[in-house]
Amino acid sequence: MLNVVIFGAPGSGKGTQSARIVEKYGLNHISTGDVLRAEIKNGTELGKTAKGYIDNGQLIPDALMIDILAGVFDGFKDGKGVIFDGFPRTIAQADALKAMLKERGQEVSVMLDLEVPEDELMTRLIKRGQETGRADDNEETIKKRLVVYHSQTAPLIDWYKNDGTYRHINGLGTMDGIFADICEAIDKL
Ligand code: AP5
Ligand code: MG
Repeated sequence: MLNVVIFGAPGSGKGTQSARIVEKYGLNHISTGDVLRAEIKNGTELGKTAKGYIDNGQLIPDALMIDILAGVFDGFKDGKGVIFDGFPRTIAQADALKAMLKERGQEVSVMLDLEVPEDELMTRLIKRGQETGRADDNEETIKKRLVVYHSQTAPLIDWYKNDGTYRHINGLGTMDGIFADICEAIDKL
């Protein structure tokens, strides 16, 4: 199975490029952000818990997130593979993902790190906030999400370099151009 981790700061294009990868490679897409937003929309207990964290730009606690992830992943066990979008986001989550896949005789095939300069991230997310009304796409919350990214999530770059699965992708440019670079990385596997 092809298990792809798509990684990057808020607004780096994880969701955008995941949709293209799903279409071309027939993978199942797990976006933990989308899972949580669906729970909020449905007014579940999990959604109520998640909303407090998301609106404040903070991460949902690892133990909760890891449980959710394993449940969603097992729903896709007969597929060609999975693209993990927005997970892992902490070292604990990366360790848990490795262990969960190992228990199932699998591993991460590649980690794609979409790198985008901070001013461009801000521009993209402010624009999306205006267009779609996504609750955490306002300047104050975006700034908090970026702080959380640098302190808790960016250390995963070295984690995946050590794992041997890290690939850098320049996330600035046209969506088609970035997708071509992603395909090149996946096709080399
Ligand atoms: P999540 O939903 O994962 O949000 P995020 O990481 O902040 O990233 P985004 O979805 O905002 O950006 P993206 O990289 O997907 O970019 P996109 O393609 O949309 O997480 C939200 C929250 O949920 C977290 O803050 C946390 O609270 C919680 N959470 C989620 N996962 C968790 C976990 N594992 N552990 C704990 N908590 C968790 O693109 C952005 C915009 O830019 C779009 O409008 C798009 O059209 C545009 N765009 C894309 N590519 C380009 C391009 N090349 N040029 C110009 N514009 C572009
Ligand atoms: Mg996204």
